[in-house]
Amino acid sequence: MALEKTFSILKPDVTRRNLTGKINEKIESAGLRIIAQKRLWLTRPQAEAFYGVHATRSFFDDLCTFMTSGPVVVQVLEGENAVVNYRNVMGATNPANATPGTIRKEFAESIEANSVHGSDSLENAATEIKFFFGDIEIVG
Ligand code: CMP
Repeated sequence: MALEKTFSILKPDVTRRNLTGKINEKIESAGLRIIAQKRLWLTRPQAEAFYGVHATRSFFDDLCTFMTSGPVVVQVLEGENAVVNYRNVMGATNPANATPGTIRKEFAESIEANSVHGSDSLENAATEIKFFFGDIEIVG
């Protein structure tokens, strides 16, 4: 197994409902270490750039509106197989399809307000971490 870093966002539905601690408990209980974390209110250009890969999708405009509707918490998580481990902890994108015990099954409100984002590959994790964090902010 490999020690990896992945990127996480606790979305506006989490900060609105004051669930940051409960989500972080799920993350840490899964053996992931939160080695960087900050609370931000994304600008529209930041949200559009971060989700640029989805720019042609029908849900892109609503996604960017939601992601700028309140504060988010961006994080770097470290652990064995962190990318896959965190995606398993998050559960399916649509909470209706998520496995019991996952973050999205327990906390997500809808496919859009689905509480968390996690990188889908090691390569994208590196890109997404660089988008939000400088090296000196990541303390492993
Ligand atoms: P996330 O992992 O942040 O990546 C893109 C987001 O688009 C996804 O989580 C969902 O919250 C959001 N989204 C909204 N509608 C859809 C949809 N129909 N299919 C996939 N993702 C969607």
